[in-house]
Amino acid sequence: MALRSLLALLSLVAAASAGTLVLHENRAAVPGGFVSQGPATASDIISLRVALASNNVAGLEAKLTSLSTPGSSEFRQWLSMDEVKAFVAPSSETISAFNAFASANNLKPTVISPNGDWVSINLTVSQANELFGAQFEVFSHPDLTNTITRTLSVSLPSELVGHVDVVHPTTAFIQPNVRLLPAASTIQVEKRAPAASCNTTLPSGVITPACLQALYGIPTTPATQSTNALLVTAYEDEFAEEADLKEFLQLLRPDIPDTETFTLLSTEGGTNPQNLDDAGTEASLDIQYTAGIATEVPLQFLSDGGEDFATSLLDTTTFLDGVASPPTVMTTSYGDSEADFGLSMATKVCNGYMALGSRGISVVFASGDGGVRGNHDTTSVCKDNTFVPVFPAACPYLTSVGSTQGFGPEVAVNFTGGGFSNFFPTPSYQTTQVAGFLETVPTNFAGTFNKTGRGYPDVSVQGWNFEVVVAGETGLVGGTSASSPSFAGIIALINDQLIAAGKPVLGFLNPFLYANPTAFTDITIGHNSGFVCPASSVAFDAAVGWDPLTGSGTPLFPELLAAALA
Ligand SMILES: *[C@@H]1O[C@H](CO)[C@@H](O)[C@H](O)[C@H]1NC(C)=O
Ligand SMILES: *[C@@H]1O[C@H](CO)[C@@H](O)[C@H](O)[C@H]1NC(C)=O
Ligand SMILES: *[C@@H]1O[C@H](CO)[C@@H](O)[C@H](O)[C@H]1NC(C)=O
Ligand SMILES: *[C@@H]1O[C@H](CO)[C@@H](O)[C@H](O)[C@H]1NC(C)=O
Repeated sequence: MALRSLLALLSLVAAASAGTLVLHENRAAVPGGFVSQGPATASDIISLRVALASNNVAGLEAKLTSLSTPGSSEFRQWLSMDEVKAFVAPSSETISAFNAFASANNLKPTVISPNGDWVSINLTVSQANELFGAQFEVFSHPDLTNTITRTLSVSLPSELVGHVDVVHPTTAFIQPNVRLLPAASTIQVEKRAPAASCNTTLPSGVITPACLQALYGIPTTPATQSTNALLVTAYEDEFAEEADLKEFLQLLRPDIPDTETFTLLSTEGGTNPQNLDDAGTEASLDIQYTAGIATEVPLQFLSDGGEDFATSLLDTTTFLDGVASPPTVMTTSYGDSEADFGLSMATKVCNGYMALGSRGISVVFASGDGGVRGNHDTTSVCKDNTFVPVFPAACPYLTSVGSTQGFGPEVAVNFTGGGFSNFFPTPSYQTTQVAGFLETVPTNFAGTFNKTGRGYPDVSVQGWNFEVVVAGETGLVGGTSASSPSFAGIIALINDQLIAAGKPVLGFLNPFLYANPTAFTDITIGHNSGFVCPASSVAFDAAVGWDPLTGSGTPLFPELLAAALA
């Protein structure tokens, strides 16, 4: 074919494809609880965040595997902010393609992330509908004070396919109340006498820092390294009161100064008002069990004011992408059903944890409180035996923490979140353990789950009847929300000793954790049918070895430390 006719043909193809919309993501139905109030007003301004494709996600993934796998020549040689940016930033082709689209449509994008992978555009609803093949509607939810604007379908102009990964908010419908404290949690208002160690005479015991220290061999000696830090994330207007932390330390850690406090960090206008009325159970639990376990490790409390949980998660990762000396551990006790995020958003958020892990941050999440059925038990989810994975817990680039209770032996709590992702395949670090577990599942198993998915949680820690101080009152709470900060505290203490020994911190944990099963007590009893569904409901059973209730089991601090220092 002559060059000229080839060029003519190519320009014909280009002309034909310009303006063509390609379906990016859609939903068959409105997720439970949300009710459409009709189309969004055409002239209203909507602010959209657009994720521009990173130039080398596969390269970063391979790098992270190499950095985090024991025995690798570059084991724990964590990357700098700029080294990560070299993988995450969009290519010049992607930036040109998006800028051409923006200027052709009179849009003025603002770059809103340090790595340049997120931009924000303001446009009218009618223009957003037209450019992204959407039909934005206003949705209400009985548990939301505000309405949200979403669409059941989003498309990309063909010239942006491969250059844009996510447009938000579009098809992500995050449920309100993503705190991982089951509904059955209670704050008991009477003052309780402090328990010095695990009270094994109670059916499930009262958990205090001293109990966890005794149970897992966690040292009580103060950390020494000022460059170490443990970050607690706070979403949905959860606030931690310094006065409550002080009282908690006086009651339950009288051996350390009650002046121990935390540094407040903020994204999207997040605050942390210090009136006892503002105390949140989730934030109190998270800050008290990080302070109570990670003795004198510098603590950070990141309060995010974002409009929905997905946005808050993005705010957190993009914030840390711009911090040159980030915390070494981050703990988050919030989660929602994976499907509510949708594949594109879940993938982008999960890749954010890949980037944090490669910088040497151990990202720790609670695994969910609805057993095999999503983030919370609700009666609606007992209808069939299709299991609902929780996100971010099911992201392979973080460490997901389930819950146990009891002491003789420890068993999986029935609400402990666990199962298999429908979005992320089984990562190589856990293939042997997951295959071993799948052999224990009967062939006629009535539950429906994705055998090729990433299995979670990775580990577990006690998660029921934790003694906390909230708004000046002492009480008991539980949930995987209790397990995650406790595990994060353990990792922060190990990092303190690694830094003191002149060694790199643990960073992305999972390949190391799965390579050291003897650093855990295997939990072999339990059934995660949740609180609300009948006890006979189909769910997973704990088993010898890894299982999707308790992961590899509960930590043995001395063994974990020895493996880390080896
Ligand atoms: C979009 O509008 C919001 C206010 O609604 C404003 O804060 C923001 O700066 C605008 N962004 C851009 C990219 O113009
Ligand atoms: C443990 O709990 C039981 C029952 O509430 C109580 O009688 C006992 O004094 C407690 N033991 C300790 C050591 O706190
Ligand atoms: C199961 O998980 C894989 C990823 O591991 C995914 O590609 C597939 O679509 C999932 N299947 C279902 C039914 O969700
Ligand atoms: C879960 O455990 C709680 C506390 O032990 C118990 O009250 C509840 O009945 C259990 N639910 C199921 C479904 O097993």
